[in-house]
Amino acid sequence: MSLKSENKFETANPEDIYDPDQNYAIITKDIVKIFGDITAVNGLNIKIREGEIFGLLGPNGAGKTTTINMLVGLLKPTSGELFVGGYNVKKELSKIKEIIGVCPQHIAVYKFLTGRENIELFGNLHGINKKEVKSRADNLLNVVEFIETAERKAKEYSGGMLSQLNLLMALISDPEIVFLDEPTVGMDPRARRKIWQFIGSLKEHKKTILLTTHYIEEAEALCDRVAIIDYGELIALGSPKELKEKYNAKNLEEVFLEITGRRILEGI
Ligand SMILES: Nc1ncnc2c1ncn2[C@@H]1O[C@H](COP(=O)(O)OP(=O)(O)O)[C@@H](O)[C@H]1O
Ligand SMILES: [Mg+2]
Repeated sequence: MSLKSENKFETANPEDIYDPDQNYAIITKDIVKIFGDITAVNGLNIKIREGEIFGLLGPNGAGKTTTINMLVGLLKPTSGELFVGGYNVKKELSKIKEIIGVCPQHIAVYKFLTGRENIELFGNLHGINKKEVKSRADNLLNVVEFIETAERKAKEYSGGMLSQLNLLMALISDPEIVFLDEPTVGMDPRARRKIWQFIGSLKEHKKTILLTTHYIEEAEALCDRVAIIDYGELIALGSPKELKEKYNAKNLEEVFLEITGRRILEGI
């Protein structure tokens, strides 16, 4: 599977493309999402490069999940345009589904199946042949040291184990662009570090990763760039190093504090 950008002639309508520089895997253009009287996302403009690990960082309720859900076609924006892999989310969602993996914040697994069965089922649903799914599953399970846990039924899993399973399910289709919404929630520090290492290693395979987190450490450890959002608005954008320098801060928490006068974790 390849990104649309590799085949520029496939562009159905050139006007659908927001930016002539197609080396962006994900673009949000003036995205707004209003739920009743709540503006969850308020004019978000972000461009994420191919091969980048990009973090959406912000307190609870900042609009991170809403943004991901709009990008993967689960929610319709109130206004604005979204592009994933060069495809317009509004018009070409089926193409997008072929190249993305999604690890949702609210975990969806079949509790009466084992971890491995959940992963393989997901692979089969993607139309990958059984032998290939098995070999990919073995590979993933080995890399994250989940091979024994994977033989147990998901109903016995802790929150952290469910998060790990969720992540592997998102990756079984070997997607080009991966959306990870709070991927390490509930994990103990050891598991979290192992998963960080694993997510970092996806970069070598030229995957583009959009990660949301309210763990500052996670964003700093993993992300090439981060967008800090608050009340649905972009308040800072850059590499962790750039942001720390710009705001003369020790970490991204201090950057947030400097800009807003609040702490990211206050709302949790
Ligand atoms: N389906 C919904 N209906 C109404 N309000 C919603 C819905 N989903 C999210 N919100 C509100 O939108 C805001 C952003 O939520 P969310 O995107 O889940 O934030 P985050 O993922 O950053 O914690 C919050 O105020 C939340 O309560
Ligand atoms: Mg969320």
